[in-house]
Amino acid sequence: MNILQINSSARSTGSESTRLADALVAKIVAANAGAAVTRRDLAADPHPVLDEPALQALFTPADQRTAEQAARVALDDALIAQVQAADVIVIGAPTYNFGITAQLKTWFDAIARAGVTFKYGPTGPVGLLTGKKVYVAVARGGMHKDAPSDIQLAHLKTFLGFVGLTDVQFFFAEGMGMGPDAVAKAQAQADADINAVLV
Ligand SMILES: Cc1cc2nc3c(=O)[nH]c(=O)nc-3n(C[C@H](O)[C@H](O)[C@H](O)COP(=O)(O)O)c2cc1C
Repeated sequence: MNILQINSSARSTGSESTRLADALVAKIVAANAGAAVTRRDLAADPHPVLDEPALQALFTPADQRTAEQAARVALDDALIAQVQAADVIVIGAPTYNFGITAQLKTWFDAIARAGVTFKYGPTGPVGLLTGKKVYVAVARGGMHKDAPSDIQLAHLKTFLGFVGLTDVQFFFAEGMGMGPDAVAKAQAQADADINAVLV
């Protein structure tokens, strides 16, 4: 089993989404002897944004790219290869300003590749990253679950589904900015949810 862990908090220490992603991976590894884990921390090891030179590189045929353009496309190719090789994907996803972090967006922009991870057919888009299990650990300062303000969850579900990642399970630590009692309650609930699902 290949497990891919994507951490997207800007924080190198004290990140709740990373703590929960670590807990999820530890549980999966414990239940699957010999599982291999690939980790990418997008804050410690950032992926470049999708800017104009990157777009030009992606839309230039491979045999006509400059060395610089080929190197930029190769960075995205490496992330696509990791996700293709994964059986299980674990994502730590903090809520920043009602959305995903800029770090996670760079990963989304890298792995969405027409003809490789999705394609358009007569009935619309078809995701090509099929047959994988995805766990997403969401940490947020307030409470948004089941509220109109939870646009992050819709973005996560829609994007992952678009590339074929439809078997997605979410875990939440909500209220992380609402004082020590709320933090303790959120952490205990998230830990219990993780333990319950992976026993
Ligand atoms: C720049 C920034 C923006 C944030 N925006 C929101 C927000 O829109 N809604 C919310 O509930 N919490 C928000 N928070 C709180 C974080 O979601 C919370 O601190 C969470 O624990 C961050 O994840 P992490 O612990 O993995 O770093 C924000 C925090 C930061 C630093």
